[in-house]
Amino acid sequence: MGEPKCAHPELRPEDGRCSAELIRRCHGRENEATDLPIIEVKDLRKKFGDFVAVKGISFAVQKGEIFGFLGPNGAGKTTTINMLTGLARPTAGAITIAGRDGIKEIKKVQRIIGIVPDESNLYDEMNGYENLVFCASLYGIKKGEAAQRARELLKQFSLDDTGDKPFKAYSKGMKRKLTIAAGIIHEPEILFLDEPTTGIDVESARQIRRLITELNAKGTTIFLTTHYLEEAERLCHRVGFIVSGEIVKVGNVNDLMNKAQQEKIVEFVVEQGRPNFGAILSDHFPHVTIKHISPERIRIGSAEEIQLMPFMRLFDEYGMVVHEAKILRPSLEEVFVKLTGIEISKLEAKKGGGKK
Ligand SMILES: Nc1ncnc2c1ncn2[C@@H]1O[C@H](COP(=O)(O)OP(=O)(O)OP(=O)(O)O)[C@@H](O)[C@H]1O
Ligand SMILES: [Mg+2]
Repeated sequence: MGEPKCAHPELRPEDGRCSAELIRRCHGRENEATDLPIIEVKDLRKKFGDFVAVKGISFAVQKGEIFGFLGPNGAGKTTTINMLTGLARPTAGAITIAGRDGIKEIKKVQRIIGIVPDESNLYDEMNGYENLVFCASLYGIKKGEAAQRARELLKQFSLDDTGDKPFKAYSKGMKRKLTIAAGIIHEPEILFLDEPTTGIDVESARQIRRLITELNAKGTTIFLTTHYLEEAERLCHRVGFIVSGEIVKVGNVNDLMNKAQQEKIVEFVVEQGRPNFGAILSDHFPHVTIKHISPERIRIGSAEEIQLMPFMRLFDEYGMVVHEAKILRPSLEEVFVKLTGIEISKLEAKKGGGKK
């Protein structure tokens, strides 16, 4: 699918590309996920001795979407990914992936999924090219094709200048990128990424987010875990919140943010305000409340949808130039705190970088 053209340049994100968030806001979801579940999880449970790490969770991931699995340290995200990818055996429950039994038929399922674990599984002594060719051989890809694909991926991930450096000499960001390249060497239908941007530098994190968006635009379903709610808000179509082994909420990112908002809030940034403009606004629009007013910033709220044009006309009438009019929405962080009662600082305990 071609890159959607954004009609709202002021909303263009990093790198001038359209993230899932912008596609939702500006393009009406051009890379629309289907309603067909590609992953279905039912009453999934995992015990380690007497400790229940995952307590009977159920959810579905739609084909073509970016699904974010979010939760604090120890919530059960990695344990769940490990069960979905065949790296850990569930204690109970069912997994269906692309119509197959994700437990009994895991070997077949593994051919169509890619895995990027939180800690790299590549070989320290091999260089990037050798690691990729080796991974390709595990999927039965022929030598010539593997060599070509490895070279393409190294170029795409800006790793083609790492020469003969062994993997152990790579930086954290380089390691993460090569691990992702290895995860997609066989062009999987579904890619599982466990904290793809945790602990790496800003630029590498940005590149990785862009790669995720591009892979998804080409049709790959993405299942990712992250601590960065801002990243999830920008990348994901839907998210699931997991806390202490239980799912608290699964939903569409936009719906979750809209439902969390009791009233609509709009902010106008004007060149220069006028004295008593609050009273003038209240006279003209008795149904809105003025949340904030300063010479250059006016924020109003209403239980109803706010139409911008009548306000713009009033500003014009009073000779006020409007630089910006924006609808303020709650962030996914606020939604998370509201639904889980968990402070954001708890989520951030493991952060080491990666934020924009
Ligand atoms: N092999 C194991 N043996 C015993 N307990 C385990 C094992 N693996 C995970 N756990 C426990 O299961 C719980 C969930 O761990 P998990 O790694 O899935 O959390 P997570 O959500 O991925 O956390 P993080 O954000 O830190 O990566 C934790 O309490 C952890 O200590
Ligand atoms: Mg984890």
